[in-house]
Amino acid sequence: MSSDPCSFSCVTRCVTRHLNLTLRVDFDRRVIRAKVELTVEALEDRFSALTLDTKDLQVVSVTANGQAASFTMGPKHSFKGTPLDITLPFDLSRGQHVIVEVTYETSPSASALQWLSPEQTAGRKQPYLFSQCQAHHCRSMIPCQDSPCVKHTYYAQVSVPKDLVTVMSAVRDGQEVDPQDNNRVLYRFRQTVPMPSYLMAIAVGALESREIGPRSRVWSEKEFVDKAAFEFSETEAMLKAAEDLVGPYVWGRYDILVLPPSFPYGGMENPCLTYATPTLLAGDKSLSNVIAHEISHSWTGNLVTNKTWEHFWLNEGHTVYLERMIGRSLVSEQFRQFKAMGGWKDLQDSVNTFGANNVLTNLVPSLQDVDPDEAFSSVPYEKGFALLYHLEELMGGPEVFMGFVRSYIQMFAYGSVTTDEWKNHLFSYFKDQVDILNKVDWNAWMFTPGMPPVKPQYDTTLADACISLSQRWVKAKDQDLSSFKESDVKTLSSHQLIEFLSLLLQEDPISLTRVKKMQEVYNLNAIMNSEIRFRWLRLCVRSRWEEAVPMALKMATEQGRMKYTRPLFREIFNYEKYRDEAVRVFVAHRAAMHPVTSGLVAKDLQVDASKTTSL
Ligand code: BES
Ligand code: ZN
Repeated sequence: MSSDPCSFSCVTRCVTRHLNLTLRVDFDRRVIRAKVELTVEALEDRFSALTLDTKDLQVVSVTANGQAASFTMGPKHSFKGTPLDITLPFDLSRGQHVIVEVTYETSPSASALQWLSPEQTAGRKQPYLFSQCQAHHCRSMIPCQDSPCVKHTYYAQVSVPKDLVTVMSAVRDGQEVDPQDNNRVLYRFRQTVPMPSYLMAIAVGALESREIGPRSRVWSEKEFVDKAAFEFSETEAMLKAAEDLVGPYVWGRYDILVLPPSFPYGGMENPCLTYATPTLLAGDKSLSNVIAHEISHSWTGNLVTNKTWEHFWLNEGHTVYLERMIGRSLVSEQFRQFKAMGGWKDLQDSVNTFGANNVLTNLVPSLQDVDPDEAFSSVPYEKGFALLYHLEELMGGPEVFMGFVRSYIQMFAYGSVTTDEWKNHLFSYFKDQVDILNKVDWNAWMFTPGMPPVKPQYDTTLADACISLSQRWVKAKDQDLSSFKESDVKTLSSHQLIEFLSLLLQEDPISLTRVKKMQEVYNLNAIMNSEIRFRWLRLCVRSRWEEAVPMALKMATEQGRMKYTRPLFREIFNYEKYRDEAVRVFVAHRAAMHPVTSGLVAKDLQVDASKTTSL
């Protein structure tokens, strides 16, 4: 088995099969006091020692089958955390199990957790806690083999103050007054499908829910439930479309939790409970592909999992491929092609930001001593998609290639895979057409930085209007500006408006006169859809429109989705006159930000990691 450069745990000598968690959530101290029983199977004879991943955990005691076990904590690594070395008081033979129980407490600065004060919530009365474990943060919440090559089921009992509601990445299994404290409620959960540690998830807050389908509810603070139920009303149709493409949904429930605005991602595929950013609720319905994407992860990612984060493209590339196949089923093939073209442009942007020689733009990068959060970009998503789309073109089209995707899922379901295993399966599935596969420049696709060696062909029907309007703006002379009319954008869909702005962002900055004119005729300042607003504000700041700076800083701080917050801060930082202002605003907000977001923005803005006041 290949080893995981991001984990200290010994995945070749033993594997965890089940977790039994007892959690007590303490909002006053911002810690979780916890006990975890790990059912560990030995993979070798004379097995008597194991290492678990931890990060900022206070370990109180360790037992093995009820007997005290000795343990030591190693040195702390910047992003991998601290290895917890456990010595068992007995030996195991290969195939035997041991229950290792760890009693511990999390730190208030746990990187998986954000603790919100009541003032940071919509209701302003109750605090809120949520976790985000992907990629390597589970270890700051639970001592475990924190590697995606290990899969286990789990059971959890969670005690929280009685006015709060708890949800997890599992099926709910009842609740009762906490027998140890009648001011608290005990929630129970079970996850009976084996899953990797990065899919562990918990959220606690003043949550309500509404049914949106036969296996789905939306959860959020009460202020958002109705909006969320409306926004996500197509969930069941998407689930059915996905099942038609790849087979039965095995996780039972598919609920959606709408998080507070600081949630750092658009969506997160926690099993039974997708997490979604509230920025999806602003603007027109169903503009977003996030739910189709997270639903697709139920197969690619959650059933078939990347063996290490170096093979992250297997998760995200296949998921983007399926997400766009759902778009094909529910909208049209032209729509899929339009989205694929947009993705190619996102890839170009990432390659430009990293630099075309940066090894982090490899489809399969080495992550030896690289923090997965810092490696994160559109590359695994869009280079991965581009490769799969290229193979689809070569092998005979979408129906033929979906046959392979189904077979890949069936072959590796409940397991974890490397790129090599994926490629071997591709060659065996298309065994009569290996001559075609042998013409692919695999080394260029996988291990060479920059754009892919081949640019796929996409249908431009839906993109043509975006391309011609953006070119009109780029080429317009000052005396031509009066030719722009409100009606230019009236016939564009929101998808096309996004594409129009993305195209302009790839050009040299247009003049200040032009963005001002664009505002005058299109009134883009009034559009609250976050995908449109984010691009529009970047365009304005890039053209040095001073009035846009406060609006851009407002968007960067009022929500914390990193896709928006990081580029907005960077854009203002690159505007010399407002560089200090960007730093000042960040420093003033950082204590209230998500720990991962504040760490990455600090790096982007070259701010010292511990600086909490601006001088
Ligand atoms: N699993 C990812 C989010 C993630 C990746 C969190 C790596 C932490 C580390 C999720 O499925 C995702 O890709 N979300 C996208 C959705 C988009 C591609 C539709 C996002 O957050 O923007
Ligand atoms: Zn994803």
